[in-house]
Amino acid sequence: MLEITGLRKAYGDNQVLRGVDLTVRPGQIVGLLGSNGAGKTTLISIVAGLRPADGGTVRVAGIDALTDRRQAAQHIGLAPQELGIYPTLTVADNLAFFARLAGMSRSDTARRVSQVAEAVGLAEWMRKKAGELSGGQKRRLHTGMALLHKPALLFLDEPTVGADVQSRASILEVVRSLAADGVAVVYTSHYLTELEQLNADIAVLHEGRVVVRGSLDEVLGQYAVANVVLHFSGTAPDLPGWRSDGSSLSPLAVPEDPARTAAQALVSLGVEAESLAGVEIIRPSLETAYLAITGRAITPEADSALVA
Ligand SMILES: Nc1ncnc2c1ncn2[C@@H]1O[C@H](COP(=O)(O)OP(=O)(O)OP(=O)(O)O)[C@@H](O)[C@H]1O
Ligand SMILES: [Mg+2]
Repeated sequence: MLEITGLRKAYGDNQVLRGVDLTVRPGQIVGLLGSNGAGKTTLISIVAGLRPADGGTVRVAGIDALTDRRQAAQHIGLAPQELGIYPTLTVADNLAFFARLAGMSRSDTARRVSQVAEAVGLAEWMRKKAGELSGGQKRRLHTGMALLHKPALLFLDEPTVGADVQSRASILEVVRSLAADGVAVVYTSHYLTELEQLNADIAVLHEGRVVVRGSLDEVLGQYAVANVVLHFSGTAPDLPGWRSDGSSLSPLAVPEDPARTAAQALVSLGVEAESLAGVEIIRPSLETAYLAITGRAITPEADSALVA
């Protein structure tokens, strides 16, 4: 559905994309991760035809999206990072306006508007002015507007910012059901647990390239690490094999079973464990994987193992 190769983009001297390769298949949810300024929004904007690229190729449903922008755009839905709703229009009119922009007939528009409002959980707010919605409801409306023309490739750029637990859950549910219907979804978020909940494929954009690409399980298996931190009231005691960080200790080697490692440490500490204030067990997660990926150079072996 989406095939990007060697995509490059600079703003002046700032080389943001230095050769991005990324493939997304129908029905796949790809979590695009990267720190602030990594270039996620830039990448999405180029694919959606909103910004020119400096080089590389982008194919959307087989169409060259860098030259045939309008044709490619028919397959693309985009909910940008910045909210784009009309505050003085009602929810229904916001949706209808964008449906008409997408070229839908009047009769199709009415039907599609209520389907989408239902899908994003805004059916009961149809007559409310968009500006009077809560932050999370605005996000849902904004997401809904990208779904109107039933795009086969959907970009959601931080769709859950400002959303409460329920709004977030409902956005994730919308994403799941779209993917189940065959929509290819590219999803960016700084809330990594969402990508775990979606069981998304992972693409990490770092220093201008996709440095890791794999299923969630592959990425966790290769990069996620467990850890344990012992916190003390006052200065942490010395313990061979452990690193002190003032008032806490963490093991020098990555522990296979952090709880057991903690228990063994407490035995070794004996009476010195008296000043223990807490034991923090850190389970392997996408967050620990992400930190490992972006915090150290990726070895060529690790790189090629996961880049598809
Ligand atoms: N229109 C622009 N003109 C000049 N520089 C830009 C422009 N848009 C983005 N940049 C720069 O390009 C880099 C990538 O920005 P981008 O918005 O793509 O990052 P991002 O990964 O989406 O970050 P975030 O997680 O904060 O949304 C940043 O250094 C940013 O300052
Ligand atoms: Mg962004």
